[in-house]
Amino acid sequence: MPPLEREFQYTQEDFQRVRLLLKSLSGINLVETKDSMVYSRIASRVRYLKMTKVSDYLAFIERDEEELQHFVNALTTNLTSFFRECHHFEQLEKFVQSGEKVNRIWSAASSTGEEPYSIAMSLVRLWDKFDIPVQVVASDINSHVLQTASTGEYELESVKSITDKKRFFFKGKGKCEGLARVKPELRNLIEFRQINLLNATWPIEEKQDVIFCRNVMIYFEKEQQEALLVRLLSKLRKGGMYIAGHSENFSQFAHLMSPVGRTTYIKN
Ligand SMILES: C[S@@+](CC[C@H](N)C(=O)[O-])C[C@H]1O[C@@H](n2cnc3c(N)ncnc32)[C@H](O)[C@@H]1O
Repeated sequence: MPPLEREFQYTQEDFQRVRLLLKSLSGINLVETKDSMVYSRIASRVRYLKMTKVSDYLAFIERDEEELQHFVNALTTNLTSFFRECHHFEQLEKFVQSGEKVNRIWSAASSTGEEPYSIAMSLVRLWDKFDIPVQVVASDINSHVLQTASTGEYELESVKSITDKKRFFFKGKGKCEGLARVKPELRNLIEFRQINLLNATWPIEEKQDVIFCRNVMIYFEKEQQEALLVRLLSKLRKGGMYIAGHSENFSQFAHLMSPVGRTTYIKN
């Protein structure tokens, strides 16, 4: 690390402290090569607080809960898009069409909302109406992305490929030019909750019919992934559908769930 080139003092020890803290708070296991990424993500917070050393910032977050949330928000990776891995939405549609009961769906690491809105759009298309008997819960550890998701405002560019976008979004005008806003009928199908998957309990009372938990386990260590999968399955009804991210393969859990498509499983 070349400290002289940086605006704030940042040592290898600081980076190791960040790694430990983030892992204990969120499960995210930052690899050794991410030191520069960590610096660039938290530098704006250090600047905002008018501090000069990352070590002072790390001492501060230990006694300031609000800043601790900013720290987690800064270090999560929130990449997502509408209908990302579109085969999963096709699987969901097939599942509903097969006559399965689908009233509760949990999008367990929903980031900025594109995933739960894609789920809701798929269902509205299927029933051809907004008044459907489905509640989608969208959750994430990151309070900032949840706020974005709840507002439902996106760059027009990001909804470009949604052919029936007029049904689901208002096109921004004037100072909202270039933006698309989710219509309230779609927004009302989703409930946003802040949930840390690492917490011992989750505010998910009822068994779910479908759980999307995509592209978050990849940040966790193997043992943690396995323990989390077992806990998520305890929130899924027997015969319910579990949908994982493209690089999350759970073939070793054949006793708990059976594959029915690409990274899509049915709970045994
Ligand atoms: C790469 S995004 C995936 C978004 C979406 N599921 C998708 O596949 O497009 C990963 C999300 O997991 C969230 N996350 C990371 N650790 C988490 C935890 N312990 N509990 C809940 N969400 C977490 C991050 O905040 C981020 O929004």
